[in-house]
Amino acid sequence: MTTVIDAVRLPDPYPYYATLVAERPLAFDAVLGAWVACDAAAVRAVLTADCLRVRPAVEPVPGGIVGTPAGEVFGDLVRMTDGPLQQHLKSVVVDALGHLDPAHTAGLAAERTRECLAAGGQPPYEELMFAVPARVVAALCGLDRGLDAEAARLTGDFVQCIPASAGPEQYRAASRAAARLRELLGPGIEKGEDGTGLLAELVRAARRAAWPRTAALLANAVGFLSQTFDATAGLIGNSLLALARGAQAPTRAAAEALVREVARHDAPVQNTRRFAAGALRHGGAEIAPGEQVLVVLAAANRDPAANPDPHAFRPGRPDPAVFTFGAAAHRCPGESLAVTVAAAVLTELLAAGADLARLPAEPAYRPLANARIPVL
Ligand code: HEM
Repeated sequence: MTTVIDAVRLPDPYPYYATLVAERPLAFDAVLGAWVACDAAAVRAVLTADCLRVRPAVEPVPGGIVGTPAGEVFGDLVRMTDGPLQQHLKSVVVDALGHLDPAHTAGLAAERTRECLAAGGQPPYEELMFAVPARVVAALCGLDRGLDAEAARLTGDFVQCIPASAGPEQYRAASRAAARLRELLGPGIEKGEDGTGLLAELVRAARRAAWPRTAALLANAVGFLSQTFDATAGLIGNSLLALARGAQAPTRAAAEALVREVARHDAPVQNTRRFAAGALRHGGAEIAPGEQVLVVLAAANRDPAANPDPHAFRPGRPDPAVFTFGAAAHRCPGESLAVTVAAAVLTELLAAGADLARLPAEPAYRPLANARIPVL
């Protein structure tokens, strides 16, 4: 029997999601031992409920990394915490990312893409999907040539501690990576407002918001890299597949519209989780304290109540409802950055004459529980 976790890597999970939206919009799944929220109304209700948290109350940081550098970073991430302190720090993160110049970001992404393609031959798709976005964010954080590539590799190690399936080996790798990433990014934070780039913006935003703790700024700088990694790889990969299937992106603006529609239609982040600290009633369902909810963002994107003709791939749709970047207190502050980078990578690839028709028609997907990333 398919579960919403298996669905992430199906060739086409969308008919299954459509059945859930129609028949089980918010229902308890005994196999998963969790509630599953699928339609737009349930997903909105869950993401906006104060009593639903991003971590279980009994384990704010995964046991395997408590007391390690990875645990210290994890415990300070806005993504992994809730409450007034999180909202205060989140405002700093949003402010800092809001100061990025999209043209500069696109330029960096185009340059890194051209470097990747310089060797000629078949494009190195995995490198374009994972390494290019991570290197762009590292460069925005002031890491120079060489260090940006190291930061990209370390980010791959750090994100291994996030899935529930992580074990001792992943925890050790993540902790080594977190320690080194803090060493790499620390000087940029210490330079304070005199520095340049995203880290200086973070320090300036912290001063404006009277945020006092530098360690949390450094942790969230590591978070910029880790939040970029899988999600942007999936966005680029799924956009490449859309192009291979005949979608067009003759200009940078068309590439951005395509990427935005891919984010809705074939979401790189298919689901997220919540843990009930209090009871939530929605429709006929009652989620009790201690229970878990799987929030199927990719299903809500295709709810006909949220988007007319939801299964049609239509770049430039007027006012689409897109759940891929979350909602409410934990809404993703990196959406524009991700779209800019992905569109720049596609534009450079197409300009280089890459033959995307040679991509597999039915690729395998990485065995991940929430990110949909094709193996190309
Ligand atoms: C395609 C790319 C991306 C997707 C699909 C994506 C999706 C998401 C989602 C769904 C969440 C909320 C998770 C939840 O509520 O449980 C989130 C949070 C977050 N994202 Fe992204 N993201 C992407 C790229 C980025 C980038 C490039 C950055 C920044 C460098 C970023 C920074 C963050 C941060 C800091 C949070 C935590 C926000 C909070 O919890 O308050 N993301 N992202």
